[in-house]
Amino acid sequence: MRRITKAVFPVAGMGSRFLPATKASPKEMMPVVDKPLIQFAVEEAVAAGMTDMIFITGRNKRAIEDHFDKAYEVEAELERRGKLDLLSTVRDILPKNINCIYIRQPEALGLGHAVLCARPAVQNEPFAVILADDLIYSARPAIAQMADSYDAVGCSILGVEDVPREQTGSYGIVRATNLEDSLVHVDGLVEKPSPETAPSTLAVVGRYILTPRIFDLLEKQPPGKGGEIQLTDAIETLLQEESVKALRYNGIRYDCGSKFGFLKATVSYGLMHPETGPEFSLWLNALLTANRPNGSNNNAS
Ligand code: G1P
Repeated sequence: MRRITKAVFPVAGMGSRFLPATKASPKEMMPVVDKPLIQFAVEEAVAAGMTDMIFITGRNKRAIEDHFDKAYEVEAELERRGKLDLLSTVRDILPKNINCIYIRQPEALGLGHAVLCARPAVQNEPFAVILADDLIYSARPAIAQMADSYDAVGCSILGVEDVPREQTGSYGIVRATNLEDSLVHVDGLVEKPSPETAPSTLAVVGRYILTPRIFDLLEKQPPGKGGEIQLTDAIETLLQEESVKALRYNGIRYDCGSKFGFLKATVSYGLMHPETGPEFSLWLNALLTANRPNGSNNNAS
């Protein structure tokens, strides 16, 4: 069985939920403390042993290419000023053995279409898909846990977690018999069902390991929900032919596609960050105390 070496990052989306921040710069470049979302996603793939990073880009996404490229002027300036720590932070964004491949998605036709655009680079291999919006904090990266499952069972693996029933309309939702298993055998998949019709509350998050057969199916996939070519619909067809499993990965997910999720990630990572953590924690405690009913501490300003 082939090791997974290729990771696809669909980054063509407009990021309308974060306008005006995303008017002229990609949402994937929004930083959680000091690191852009796309770098977290790439680091997850690299930590899982993947070597080919395939970005499906669109208009206004040049900053992503620049971010993973060499920045001569920045490096020269940091060297001149003797800022060697920062120099290595900028220089070592990616290990030397990593290839970055950029493919332009000419039209925003949906996530399924974005994944199909990766076909020339992926060819006939199983591959990972990582949506940078979903930032997952875990000891072993979520996509590495999924690659382990792929190595064990050799079929497509979806990263899943349980969500409150009122949120099923935001996710692909799994239909399965043994829903409690940690590696669930998937019987069906529905894109964004209403809470009343959802077959379960087990939601697909932005992590997939897929067999290359998905490309043939995506090519024939008519538009689905929202008039877009949905990856979920093609996986629903795939599981008529091949086994598909869903892994409840270990980790905490931050939905950085929403303002609330992004704020939660910023606070959590800010508290964990060696530079900001201790001071931020004190400030946050003071702020919370000040805002408690009858709170008299007004230090947090
Ligand atoms: C996409 C998929 C959906 C999945 C979600 C995970 O939706 O279509 O099935 O559950 O990502 O983040 P989007 O969030 O792009 O609307």
